[in-house]
Amino acid sequence: MSGNITFTMIKPKAIAKGYMGKIIDQIITGGFTIKALKYTCLSKEEAMEFYAVHKERPFYNDLTGFMSSGPIVAAILEKENAVQAYRDYIGATNPSDAEEGTIRKLYGTDIQANAVHGSDSDENAVIESSFYFSERERV
Ligand code: CMP
Repeated sequence: MSGNITFTMIKPKAIAKGYMGKIIDQIITGGFTIKALKYTCLSKEEAMEFYAVHKERPFYNDLTGFMSSGPIVAAILEKENAVQAYRDYIGATNPSDAEEGTIRKLYGTDIQANAVHGSDSDENAVIESSFYFSERERV
C-alpha cells in the first residue's frame, strides 16, 4: 500500500539562485502539506550517509560534494500516494527531460543540480525523513 509522506530537499544551487520561496510555494500549490521543514547544511560525511545507496555510482563523490557545498531546505510532505505524486510533480531526474512547468524544469540546472530531491520509495521516505527530523519536529 502506498504511504502518505515523502521527503524532499531543495538543493544548494537552487537556494543560491534565490528559488527557495518559489519552490516551497509550488510544493504547497501542488497540494502537498508540509509536515516538517528545516533550513540547514549537510557536511560531506552527512551527504555521503544520506546518499549511501548511490555509493558505488560514478557520480557519488561529486553529488555528495555538491550537496554539502551550501545550505539546503529539508522537508517532509504529506499527500495521498505522496512518493509517486511528488515524483510526477517535480519532473524527470534530468531537468532537460522534465516536463514544462515542473520544479526541475523551471529551477534545475543539470542532473546533479536538479533543484530538488524526492524519495524514490515509501521505505526511503521514512528513512530520509528520520535522517533529518525527530518526532517532535513534525506537526
Ligand atoms: P536525487 O533525487 O537527489 O537522487 C539522487 C541524485 O543523484 C539525483 O537526484 C541526481 O541529482 C543524481 N544523479 C542521478 N543520476 C546521475 C547521473 N547519471 N549523473 C550525475 N548525477 C546523477
